Amino acid sequence: MNIVILTGAGVSAESGLGTFREKDGLWTKYDLNEVATPQGFARNPALVHDFYNARRANCRGAAPNAAHHALARLQAGYTKGSVSLITQNVDDLHERGGATGVIHMHGELSRALCAACGHRWDAPQAMAPEDPCPACGAQATRPDIVWFGEFPYHMERIETLLAACDLFVSIGTSGNVYPAAGFAEEARIAGARTLELNLEPSEGMIPFDEARYGPATRIVPDWVEELLAGQA
Ligand code: OAD
Repeated sequence: MNIVILTGAGVSAESGLGTFREKDGLWTKYDLNEVATPQGFARNPALVHDFYNARRANCRGAAPNAAHHALARLQAGYTKGSVSLITQNVDDLHERGGATGVIHMHGELSRALCAACGHRWDAPQAMAPEDPCPACGAQATRPDIVWFGEFPYHMERIETLLAACDLFVSIGTSGNVYPAAGFAEEARIAGARTLELNLEPSEGMIPFDEARYGPATRIVPDWVEELLAGQA
């Protein structure tokens, strides 16, 4: 059985990283048009860097939780097929929890991108608009994050995984942002069973075949242990 897992901010919530759309979420405190669009960056790059510098500092101070560790255990212990992990999160808690080959469709806080030449490198802890690109020298440094209005990364690879998926699992995402919000339906059309693990029902239009609700640190390890026990 090929398992494809999609995670969102909810999987990192109990590590202390805020979600976006819940009460007190990031998008209730910041205007996403100003900090998460190419137009906002063109208007005020310092503001955008400050926003992501704060996210990077939060991430550095956070630790992976039981849900991140459980998904890594699933990847290591599942012998009946593949376990692919796609995340909308820009933190590195899946990797620090032991997961491998994580597909970061919305980019990564730990990486920098030159808007002039496309060169990528490890981001310093704090980035500033005047930072020169190490390859071309242009002062066009930006976080390597996919903003609203930009194309998510690795879409070809994701489409291939969804087409061969037998079980699609959505964890801790509200189902508001496309194309990720459409992955469950794509997987279902390809013949997969779909499962949602979330604090509460997400807002996607298409119901999942199965859903379990509760905090990720409880429901994800429970599901993983069941699956691993079932293959014995
Ligand atoms: P949202 O903030 O939209 O949704 C978070 C989801 O996590 C909600 O459905 C919550 O119910 C759930 N949740 C919260 N705490 C949880 C917990 N402890 N255990 C399990 N679930 C929990 O975040 P995303 O869906 O990830 O993109 O947002 C998608 C994208 O929108 C992000 O990648 C980001 C944002 O704008 C960009 O910035 C491009």
